[in-house]
Amino acid sequence: MVEKVAELGGSSQSTTVVVIGAGPAGLTVANLLRCCGIDCVVLERRSREYVAQRQRAGIVETRAVRMFDSWGLADRVLGGVPYDGILEFRVDGETHLVSDSDGSEGPAARLCPQQILVQRLTANYLAEGGDLRFEVADVSLDGLTTDRPVVRYRAADGVLHTITCSFVAGCDGDHGISRTAVPDGVLTAHAFDHGISWLTVLADSPPPAHPLFAVSPQGFAAHFPRGPHTSRYYLQCPPDDQPDAWPDTRVWDALRSRLADPALVSGPITDREMFRLRSLVHEPMQYGRLFLVGDAAHIISPMGGKGMNLALYDADIFARAVRDFVRDRDDTALRAYSQRALRRVWNDQEFSHWLTRALHDAGDATGSGSYLRGVARARLDRLFTSPTAARGFAEIMTGVDLG
Ligand code: APR
Repeated sequence: MVEKVAELGGSSQSTTVVVIGAGPAGLTVANLLRCCGIDCVVLERRSREYVAQRQRAGIVETRAVRMFDSWGLADRVLGGVPYDGILEFRVDGETHLVSDSDGSEGPAARLCPQQILVQRLTANYLAEGGDLRFEVADVSLDGLTTDRPVVRYRAADGVLHTITCSFVAGCDGDHGISRTAVPDGVLTAHAFDHGISWLTVLADSPPPAHPLFAVSPQGFAAHFPRGPHTSRYYLQCPPDDQPDAWPDTRVWDALRSRLADPALVSGPITDREMFRLRSLVHEPMQYGRLFLVGDAAHIISPMGGKGMNLALYDADIFARAVRDFVRDRDDTALRAYSQRALRRVWNDQEFSHWLTRALHDAGDATGSGSYLRGVARARLDRLFTSPTAARGFAEIMTGVDLG
């Protein structure tokens, strides 16, 4: 329902859910609500082209694939290729293959670059008649503790709009406005800096046979597929290193040495970024009628590939909770949203922390010291030799069902 508000030169509108942000979290919320026939409006500050090209995560884990499947969306929104569930750990040049499949029935994880998922979620939502507004500015939230919160924003043409809704889904990432609308003192931030930086480069070069993690005395490196002729590489760096210190020749030399692959085929580097490994959890993930979803509520170090998958789970829990409320006036799941989502968030934080330490401490001992190096090597040894440890690893990689 859109009515013109003549004196403002804008419009006021009413909907059930306003979704702030069209990343993986916001677009998944929007698609799932659409599946339930629930009205929503998505507000995104960037252009459609920008959002569609943003490169980040690359794997949709088994449980997330099954989540989309349960909504009848897997074929429509998941691009990429199924993957054989084998990871390679290369320690000082020695290969160890570890399965990250738990052997359960049903569709498995997919190598699906985030931008492909985002493009498909966008296309599907719009094809279903969804309302998605790009290039909005000055989004503000009011009345979050009332039954009818109000969202204001400025459209690309400069006109101010007001939307009244029942719920706001704050899916606008770590630097969005949603979380800042929560009064001081309501949320607790649990932050952790791993003291490690990564240089990551995207290159037009052959992908590896399996996603590859390498431990060497020069530090950690990784090589992941991002398409039939595209790879993403990671190199551990000192915490305050600068990208300028890494010309292309140094990148390829370091990769060949740390991956213990002197014949590694190079290619043009199309993107490079340096970032610090950090983790952050905001608790609770709800304030009144505002629900924080994905990076708006938590950041996780990339080891283990959980960031995007956590966002997809939050979206699933939230959409089901809104459905219960709209269909049956049952707010039980909405009230349990934060607690349920945080249980998985902390589970994955623990795993990511464990894997980060195991792979970084086991290599370059200058940062962590020889004692932690020994501990980390023991962790890897157990993973490579104990079937029980390997099964536990696979269970968490696939996205263990915490209910
Ligand atoms: N108004 C509207 N949109 C906004 C605003 C704002 N004030 N601020 C940010 N946004 C948009 C961003 O432009 C972006 O498109 O919100 C979106 C947030 O997307 P992500 O940062 O990708 O966060 P999320 O959807 O939670 O992603 C989940 O996927 O690859 C990972 O690193 C990513 O771990 C993250 C995960």
